[in-house]
Amino acid sequence: MRQLVAGNWKMHTSRDGAGALARAIADGATAARHAELAVCPPFPYLASVAKVLAGSQVVLGAQDAHFEPSGAFTGEVSMAMLADLGCKMVIVGHSERRRLFFESDELIRRKVIAALSHSITPIVCVGETEAEREDGLTDAVLERQLVGGLDPGELGARRFEVAYEPVWAIGTGRTATPPMVAAAHRRIRETLTKLVGRDRASQTRILYGGSVKPGNAAELLAIDGVDGALVGGASLDAESFLAIAAAARR
Ligand code: PGA
Repeated sequence: MRQLVAGNWKMHTSRDGAGALARAIADGATAARHAELAVCPPFPYLASVAKVLAGSQVVLGAQDAHFEPSGAFTGEVSMAMLADLGCKMVIVGHSERRRLFFESDELIRRKVIAALSHSITPIVCVGETEAEREDGLTDAVLERQLVGGLDPGELGARRFEVAYEPVWAIGTGRTATPPMVAAAHRRIRETLTKLVGRDRASQTRILYGGSVKPGNAAELLAIDGVDGALVGGASLDAESFLAIAAAARR
């Protein structure tokens, strides 16, 4: 299983900037072929980035979507629309969505199913806040978010990925230590095993996210049970993103 290195551009870039970033990543991707690469631009740039990425090895992803296929949901974008644009992946349940937009595990569960039903691979984000870690609640939070967001009865046989993103490590420059990451990934894998069985749990990639940079990527990506990285800030610079991808395990 190749490691997956996915870039979450959040609400950054411009039309020209997104095109240039995608072009530079597509051009450099051949050198990092042992990892699978994905980029998740803001909605308005998905179509233009899709054109830039056509024929490259870089997968197009999105940062979120609504669970209904269409309807009177002002301001929303559906998974069907993402599929239409060539999106193959979608981030679901990012901590910024949970915290700033009040997304619940139940909403995330519906989004996961909607993504799968449009053949889009969801990257389901889970992770504890600093207060939860200090209170010894990390395992309980991870389990609650996974059980709440992934209903085995609805998942069918389709592929999904998970990202472990400790909230306190996102955009802060602080990364979880390797033992913390290893323990959280082990816990996530155990919970997935209970939910979908050992075979599928072992085939599901569990990415680490939270201040991944070229300088710490090799250490993080070498940890047992880490199957890739979800990269925010450092994915906005092609050189940094490609350096992280080059650090993926061979
Ligand atoms: P960061 O963001 O790499 O800037 O910490 C990660 C994420 O939010 O997915």
